[in-house]
Amino acid sequence: MQFTYVNPTVIHFGQGQIQSISNSVESSQKVLVIYGGGSIKKNGVYDQVTEALKNHSWVEFSGVEANPTKETLDKAVAIVKEQAIDFIIAVGGGSVIDGSKYVAAAAKYDGDGWDILQGKHQITEATPIGAILTLPATGSESNMGAVITRKETQEKLPFMHPAVQPKFAVMDPDVMKSLPERQLVNGLVDAWVHVCEQYITMPTNAMVQEGYAETLLKNLLVLGKQYDERDNDEWRANLMWTANQALNGLIGTGVPQDWATHMIGHEFTALWHVDHARSLAIVQPSLLRNQIEVKRGKLEQMGKNVFCLEAGSDLAERTISAIEDFYHSLDVATEFSDYEADKPTAIDRIISQLESHGFVQLGENQAITIEKTREILESAVQ
Ligand code: NZQ
Ligand code: ZN
Repeated sequence: MQFTYVNPTVIHFGQGQIQSISNSVESSQKVLVIYGGGSIKKNGVYDQVTEALKNHSWVEFSGVEANPTKETLDKAVAIVKEQAIDFIIAVGGGSVIDGSKYVAAAAKYDGDGWDILQGKHQITEATPIGAILTLPATGSESNMGAVITRKETQEKLPFMHPAVQPKFAVMDPDVMKSLPERQLVNGLVDAWVHVCEQYITMPTNAMVQEGYAETLLKNLLVLGKQYDERDNDEWRANLMWTANQALNGLIGTGVPQDWATHMIGHEFTALWHVDHARSLAIVQPSLLRNQIEVKRGKLEQMGKNVFCLEAGSDLAERTISAIEDFYHSLDVATEFSDYEADKPTAIDRIISQLESHGFVQLGENQAITIEKTREILESAVQ
């Protein structure tokens, strides 16, 4: 274990916290409020933001889509540049927050913002951002990552930089009341896989990271089991805080990380618009079975400490089945067949996308080569 760690995002957690943004941004600053397709206009969040910003000068940009596209976001980049915006407030789920991170970084660059995703431009500064979270899932509200899609080429690529990490994040669990079931379930699954990507690698004896990861996994398992009680303040608050902690950097600090499920999953979203969380449930069980020998120690630890399974030589296999059962209990599929042509073509399309992005050695040991990915897809795609 060797690391430098900071999470600089100020968290305002709890009911009624949206009003706190009035003091989080100086009133002399010109603000751009960025949001999505309009859910915040229906559930009262937009009105709360308007009230909180009544002493600020602000403009808005709406229409950021799920899996935000460069094509849409570039219009917001132009607003930030033309109107000399000092501060961006992202109001939404991971897509709006990620999209705002792109806008914040691209606005400080004279070239094409896509250069950031391709590694052709190294970020040095960004317009400061604050986030008002409306969908607990990605952890984007207090991390430095973002995933952006280019519609034109059907590419979905990530970038990370400390300059785009939100200065503050408002997490009011009441905003979840208007979430469609599908999105609530997506949040549970995405947060679960985030913990798994940082945990199901090799045993490390990093007691804090492993122990906390197991706590977060047990929380998500309980929340899934109590899904019928979801219309409840405590349930909502626990999901919101657990999903945040799953990807705020802490449990991954100083330990190996995998992220292969995410990188392969992103291609399902780019090609067939599969919801992010659902793409992960399609890939992960097959990936774990493919990589079972290198991950056996950690799968056994997870089986014992998270699922409370009995010891035995097939404990790792039973742990993967338990993960799959968790998804099925939420009515989330672990196989994919919704492609347009035939199975070999579908797999070839994913493989060629991964190759073109250089994702040819994934996983904590770089052991998931293109050949391994093909094997994984042979069982994940039906
Ligand atoms: O656009 P609106 O109208 O707001 O509707 C959204 C959207 O249609 C709706 N929604 C959000 N809050 C709502 C609500 N509807 C009613 N009530 C509310 N309170 O939900 C839909 C989905 O929203 P989206 O932001 O796309 O979902 P999510 O938070 O799951 O974000 C997914 C995106 O985040 C990326 C994914 O790749 C995907 O693009 N990720 C970002 C990560 C990060 N920054 O660290 C890590 C993740 O692994 C992930 O890759
Ligand atoms: Zn994710």
